[in-house]
Amino acid sequence: MSNSTNKTALITGATAGIGRAYAFELASRGMDLVLVARDNERLTLLANELKNKFDIKTEILVADLTNKVALGEVACRAAAEDIELVINNAGFGIKQDFVGGGLAAEQDLLDVLVGAVLQITHAAMPGLVARNSGGVINVSSVAGWLSSGTYSSAKAWVTSFSEALAFQHRASQVHVMALCPGYTRTEFHQRANMEISTVPNWMWLDVDKVVKTSLKDFARNKPVSVPGLQYKILSFVAQYLPRPVVRRISNTSRR
Ligand SMILES: NC(=O)c1ccc[n+]([C@@H]2O[C@H](COP(=O)([O-])OP(=O)(O)OC[C@H]3O[C@@H](n4cnc5c(N)ncnc54)[C@H](OP(=O)(O)O)[C@@H]3O)[C@@H](O)[C@H]2O)c1
Repeated sequence: MSNSTNKTALITGATAGIGRAYAFELASRGMDLVLVARDNERLTLLANELKNKFDIKTEILVADLTNKVALGEVACRAAAEDIELVINNAGFGIKQDFVGGGLAAEQDLLDVLVGAVLQITHAAMPGLVARNSGGVINVSSVAGWLSSGTYSSAKAWVTSFSEALAFQHRASQVHVMALCPGYTRTEFHQRANMEISTVPNWMWLDVDKVVKTSLKDFARNKPVSVPGLQYKILSFVAQYLPRPVVRRISNTSRR
């Protein structure tokens, strides 16, 4: 029987990639889970698998985070007393030029990558602070150091927002962290129709390692986690290069 006093983690984008890896890792550590995504069938299969394999409680919330009502329901669940950890992970990429591309796609991207992170974190933080435990991991990206459109701008916000909250609560037991992965093998690039055949092997991260590293960094109260030595070096360089150089590199590497 699962323990009724287990702490609960809420994970957005739990059906695939990084979110799914978090679900397995946290379930293996005995946490109960609230799994959020749009695909009801995948969520149900995942919830049952985790419940049976790890003897934890699982709950699903079918929600499209571009939808205000659905997002409100997720935020409300994130504010509940049993929530110890919130992982704002749901996301996607778009492949279009800003000029000539659809506004709806850019807006949906901002709604999921920024709006949902803002609202869910805003709902969860008061309870976490009152209980002085747990925290929030916001899945950002090394793309946030670059300058290549709505995606990288949104991730720059996620990183900066998380760093600010982490600093404001540094003396408490509440941890807030931005996870900034580089290229990670998930469904992300295929869903966005991105050409990835030219990305060299050394640039690819393993999703389970990304998640394990991030949880180690979170336990150490790091405000930003950058898994992989290659990305630690690239992130350091990107933060200290002159911005005109960053702008040029960001936009010549755009596919
Ligand atoms: N993979 C990389 O190389 C990489 C690198 C840096 C950062 N990231 C970031 O990592 C996060 C996770 O991406 P991933 O690589 O794991 O991608 P993924 O394998 O495509 O998974 C994305 C998840 O987000 C959910 N999702 C997408 N749109 C949603 C919406 N409107 N409402 C609710 N859920 C939604 C998807 O579930 P449903 O389709 O079932 O809704 C899925 O569970 C993203 O924030 C991404 O920007 C990825």
